[in-house]
Amino acid sequence: MKSIDILVKEHQLIGRYLDVLVQSKEKLEKGDQPQVVFFQHAIEFSKKYTDQFHHFKEEYLMFGLLAQKEQGLLDGQIGELRYQHERCRHCIREIEKSIQNHFDSDEMKTSHLLENLSGYISLLNRHIFREDHVFFPLAGKSLTCEDDEYLINQFKNQEINMGRHNFSSEMKSLVKQMTMLV
Ligand SMILES: [Fe+2]
Ligand SMILES: [Fe+2]
Repeated sequence: MKSIDILVKEHQLIGRYLDVLVQSKEKLEKGDQPQVVFFQHAIEFSKKYTDQFHHFKEEYLMFGLLAQKEQGLLDGQIGELRYQHERCRHCIREIEKSIQNHFDSDEMKTSHLLENLSGYISLLNRHIFREDHVFFPLAGKSLTCEDDEYLINQFKNQEINMGRHNFSSEMKSLVKQMTMLV
């Protein structure tokens, strides 16, 4: 398996997570509210898996290496992808604010939640499509076998840095729990 294949596989779990978020969005649009614990799980997954785990590997390991190798040629694209990561983090921060203190009885907080949930789903789906179909094929042309070996080792370290060896399977279970709560 190549380093890019690992990232594409992680996109599949993030995609399943986004599908569950779509269900919660549709519920909210119909005036129904998923429980607060659902959104607490959603925030945990987004912060730990999507951001600290997956986006970290892209931004600090793969993009960093590619920027060095391609000497500026991919900087524009890398900058745009980094900006999208930052916008996703912003949406999650706003979602977190919305669910604090009785959001279910507060129409303003629910609107704010819906706004950021919609933005997050749309932005991250588009971002993943772009990585899978445009950026990663380009990156694949630049990465040698040695680069792949280096990245895969760094990726393994990141799993250890997350504090536990079964981090990915715990995150899969978290998405499963969300499916039952929505
Ligand atoms: Fe990304
Ligand atoms: Fe990604």
